[in-house]
Amino acid sequence: MAANLQQLVAGAPKAELHMHIEGSLEPELMFELAAKNAVSIPYPTVDAVRAAYQFSDLQSFLDIYYAGAAVLLHEEDFYAMTRAYLERAHADNVVHTEIFFDPQTHTARGVPFQVVVEGITRALAEAQRRYGMGYRLILCFLRHLSEADAFATLEQAVPHLGLIHGVGLDSSERGHPPSKFERVFARARELGLRVVAHAGEEGPPAYIYEALDLLKVERIDHGVRALEDAALVARLAASRMPLTVCPLSNVKLCVFPRLAEHNLRRLLAAGLCATVNSDDPAYFGGYINENFRQTAAALDLTRDELYRLLKNGFEAAFLTDAERAQHYAALDGYWQSL
Ligand code: HPA
Ligand code: ZN
Repeated sequence: MAANLQQLVAGAPKAELHMHIEGSLEPELMFELAAKNAVSIPYPTVDAVRAAYQFSDLQSFLDIYYAGAAVLLHEEDFYAMTRAYLERAHADNVVHTEIFFDPQTHTARGVPFQVVVEGITRALAEAQRRYGMGYRLILCFLRHLSEADAFATLEQAVPHLGLIHGVGLDSSERGHPPSKFERVFARARELGLRVVAHAGEEGPPAYIYEALDLLKVERIDHGVRALEDAALVARLAASRMPLTVCPLSNVKLCVFPRLAEHNLRRLLAAGLCATVNSDDPAYFGGYINENFRQTAAALDLTRDELYRLLKNGFEAAFLTDAERAQHYAALDGYWQSL
């Protein structure tokens, strides 16, 4: 990719829609919190932690990701982690971010739900004041746990619905189809929450159909396996159903063997509303600009394709029409000026 195109994308205002806040916990902060909270971690150094980030599939990552989250105990820990992500995002010109959090990872260790939500939200509100960054907070249910556990988590969220905008579904995909959470998602929609779900990362196209038809999601997280099913692609394209694609994640978790073989360009060519996101940037080797940079280089994306990816981010975001119009205008003004 030409250096000027790379700079153009790096400087562009962008939305990030698929980022697990626990996946932004860098090893340096993990060590700091481990020492402060007297939690032991099974690695002697920060470098040893980073060296352990070699994954063969989603589960091999999740095992390490949940272990790392054990250092988070207090409100200020969740605040510090979220603040660090937001500073990185701001440096990448993210102007609107919709972040996931996994409350069950923390409540299972005895950390109160409220501590998690308040620490994360304090950092989000501060970034809004400081940088004008917009945000939404999305509660993800861990799909390897039971429906009853998800229901209990949703009930814990009820007193905090002013701070939580939507629900999602993450963790081990294979063997845990969206249908397992049909009733939980119906209840979430009744409560006025927006709904998304991870589907078609490792799981088959059938899981994407279930997310659409049973959970009634408004976005598919990942969804890259949709391309295996032409009828599904046609349906996703006709409805402009967004896919929040995470290219570096997909390579790290062996969904694609190399970035050059990623299907992002084919998703766009099929008319899909694909977006670029970082997923778990502390684990997968880069924040959103690094995802754009490496993917654009590996796939030789054109200026027009990069513009569409950026614009799709705002199209797919949970914004009001007025907010969306402002973001489109800012993006277009920036893009045309250079
Ligand atoms: N997939 C499923 N669960 C996750 C992921 C992911 O990419 N990241 C964090 N939890
Ligand atoms: Zn994810």
